Amino acid sequence: MGRFQDKTALVTGAAGGIGAAVVRMLRAEGARVAAADRDVSAVEAEAHLPGNLLEPAYADGLPAAAARALGRLDIVVNNAGVITRGKVTETSDEDWALTLGVNIEAPFRITRAAIPLMAAQGGGSIVNTASCWGLRPGPGHAVYCMSKAALASLTQCMGMDHAAQGIRINAVAPNEVNTPMLRTGFAKRGFDPDTAVAELGKTVPLGRIAEPEDIAEVILFLASDAARYVCGAVYEVNGAKAVA
Ligand SMILES: NC(=O)c1ccc[n+]([C@@H]2O[C@H](COP(=O)([O-])OP(=O)(O)OC[C@H]3O[C@@H](n4cnc5c(N)ncnc54)[C@H](O)[C@@H]3O)[C@@H](O)[C@H]2O)c1
Repeated sequence: MGRFQDKTALVTGAAGGIGAAVVRMLRAEGARVAAADRDVSAVEAEAHLPGNLLEPAYADGLPAAAARALGRLDIVVNNAGVITRGKVTETSDEDWALTLGVNIEAPFRITRAAIPLMAAQGGGSIVNTASCWGLRPGPGHAVYCMSKAALASLTQCMGMDHAAQGIRINAVAPNEVNTPMLRTGFAKRGFDPDTAVAELGKTVPLGRIAEPEDIAEVILFLASDAARYVCGAVYEVNGAKAVA
């Protein structure tokens, strides 16, 4: 019997690098999963909830929609994210609104809606995807770093506030991960993604950057009963590489 037999989960960013790995690995261990992303047509899951997280009504309604589709809601993985680059002097109003909307406001809305549902059924687990780049300053990504710092702080505060309701809220903080987010960034700057990923791997003490599954493993651990005493924590998963 899988670790997540009889469990249900909502995963945002389900069509992206880390999200797709989380969906696949949760289902392989028995969970029934509701996949949320702008386009989920290529994602195998028990329920599909496509939409734009910048729309408040969509984000507010996701936990109830997942619970309706799956019968209950045990796990939420707030994983969708966008990366905006540049110093503040290079950051447009649109970048600001996009970054805060997807990286902070959507997890806030989804978590706020999920907590009463989970409390009513006796508990649950929520895992947010923050970033090492939110725990220490990184160059040239000021608003992205701030958004991930805010998500890490929100995780710690919510973990404390809702522990007594049987809801564990934690975050992972990866450094670089080999996903479309990272690879398209290289491509946009004119680098070959494979070469750039290999070069970047040399800067990591473990010898390579993370694959999506390396991060998903830790998300699954935090979502599982094995992490029953982990609450309000932000787990760095970085192969021992500090922020540049
Ligand atoms: N790749 C890295 O190096 C890295 C490092 C640290 C943290 N992270 C974080 O990991 C998480 C997953 O990122 P990834 O690397 O898998 O990137 P990704 O770009 O492959 O996946 C992100 C997903 O979020 C979805 N998304 C973005 N905006 C959305 C919106 N408005 N509405 C609905 N869905 C939306 C995208 O469609 C995409 O499928 C993000 O929160 C990211 O910030 C990534």
